[in-house]
Amino acid sequence: DPVSLKNSYKNDFYIGTALSTDQIEEKNSREDSLIKKEFNAITAENIMKSMFIHPFKDKYDFVLTDKFIAYGKKNKMFIHGHTLIWHSQLAPWIQKIKDSTEMKAFMKDHITTIVSKYKGQIDSWDVVNEALNEDGTLRKSIFLDKLGEQYLIDAFKLAAAADPKVDLYYNDYNNEEPAKRAGNITLIKKIKAGGGKIDGVGIQAHWKLDYPSLEEIEKSILEYSSLGIKVAFTELDISVLPNPKDFSGADVNQNFADDPKMNPYPEKLPDSVQNKLAERYASIFKLFLKHKDKISRVTFWGVYDGQSWLNDWPIKGRTNYPLLFDKNLNAKNAYNRVIQLKEVK
Ligand code: G3I
Repeated sequence: DPVSLKNSYKNDFYIGTALSTDQIEEKNSREDSLIKKEFNAITAENIMKSMFIHPFKDKYDFVLTDKFIAYGKKNKMFIHGHTLIWHSQLAPWIQKIKDSTEMKAFMKDHITTIVSKYKGQIDSWDVVNEALNEDGTLRKSIFLDKLGEQYLIDAFKLAAAADPKVDLYYNDYNNEEPAKRAGNITLIKKIKAGGGKIDGVGIQAHWKLDYPSLEEIEKSILEYSSLGIKVAFTELDISVLPNPKDFSGADVNQNFADDPKMNPYPEKLPDSVQNKLAERYASIFKLFLKHKDKISRVTFWGVYDGQSWLNDWPIKGRTNYPLLFDKNLNAKNAYNRVIQLKEVK
């Protein structure tokens, strides 16, 4: 077998990537070869969110999701569904739902229709995404507003009824941090106590060079798995850019490409930072390997730096370097370090 992420880690956990629409449609053959060589699990970056898959009350659009599933099957990949209930990228008609009866009907129709259509074809689902605040309390959303916290239990019940065998996950970011993690644990217990079936927690892992600490990541793996559920790292990337505190007031239409404070490495990442990134990835994967029996999947949020959402978040037009392949699709130091961890010595 050629050296690759998926081959090196085949006895440990799945190694996944998020796919853009172009990648699902195999528009670029170099990207396509890289995806097939390196990854054995896929998540759709956008196309299964409600605004795309359920644009109107009586209309679903399964064209791209069908292609995504076919791609995964053809390449014998683990297929993850992202995401059923999320307050963001909502179809406009859902945003206009007025009362609890209508919201209940939406949830039932949405979850049942999609999960049953792909029953036996999708291996795991993000049933609910990002329902928590940073302090661990429940996020204010149209779902909480109309249905109260019962919506969380019902979402998992509906998904399990539509496909009893598929693995069901709750997915969030920063849920390795103590307060949010505590809230997440309470939530998982509530879902179970309410009769919902939950099989795993997704830690998105949109991380930085120095945050979160390995200690908090390790505590998270241990505490979540002690609830009897799987732990997946579902959207891994590591930003190397400053996170400007003042971006909230920034003009959303402004492009920060020419601002050296906000966009310090427009052409090339200096070797010193490149090495820090490699070091960070190596220490994270070392920790993952230590707990491989508790980890089901590690998925990167994109294949290569050029496609990362982090080039445009929290402000537009920056050049970030968060993944294992650079913008020309070449493997970075970080890739080599992750592979070397598995080399027989
Ligand atoms: O579809 C429109 C297109 O018509 C338009 O021309 C273009 C102009 O900007 O925008 C396109 O929509 C973009 C959409 O992605 C589809 O490409 C939105 O602007 C853009 O905001 C949206 O960003 C996605 C983001 O979720 C939305 O919240 C990112 O690609 C996607 O990587 C990101 O993924 C999320 C996970 O789903 C959940 N966890 C966090 C993660 C990162 O934010």
